[in-house]
Amino acid sequence: MLIPQAEIASAVKRLASEIARDYREKNPLLLGILKGSFVFMADLVRKLDFPLEVEFIRLSSYGSGQQSTGKVKVVQGLRLAVRGRHVLVVEDIVDTGITVAFLLEYLKKKKPASVRLCALTDKPSRRRVPVNLDYIGLTVPDKFIVGYGIDFNEKYRNLPDICVLEN
Ligand code: IMP
Ligand code: MG
Repeated sequence: MLIPQAEIASAVKRLASEIARDYREKNPLLLGILKGSFVFMADLVRKLDFPLEVEFIRLSSYGSGQQSTGKVKVVQGLRLAVRGRHVLVVEDIVDTGITVAFLLEYLKKKKPASVRLCALTDKPSRRRVPVNLDYIGLTVPDKFIVGYGIDFNEKYRNLPDICVLEN
């Protein structure tokens, strides 16, 4: 076990207060990246006590396994309009940065009022493209993690704690 559920919960609470401070009057669109963000999104929005909307986008960068292919595709796109909205991207983990860098470019073409990034976990040691994370929950070491929505080959998303996958 790397991060027990109590520690995740306090990180989510802190992120929610930072987000509330910045977005309370803005009716933000929280945009989760599927599938890994679904648990984090569910906990985060229930700590936000102001009007907001939720959308998801499904991207794929990984085939199966632990290495990114480096190529990102939109597997399932947006239904809600992004134009003129304050968009907050909600991601489970930022590793190389390729996924969120791609999504930022994709969103900017749709002319949002603003875009910021919120990551539950950040693995800065593996970064290959620079990304500016506006809200960071927890910094993690260069280990492959699972749990709290995060998978290895679709397994372990249901673990309540964040754990390191043993090879
Ligand atoms: P990036 O494009 O390399 O930043 O990778 C982002 C995506 O890769 C995340 O949204 C995860 O789905 C996946 N990923 C990166 N590191 C891990 C890990 O340690 N465990 C599970 N998935 C990971
Ligand atoms: Mg992901």
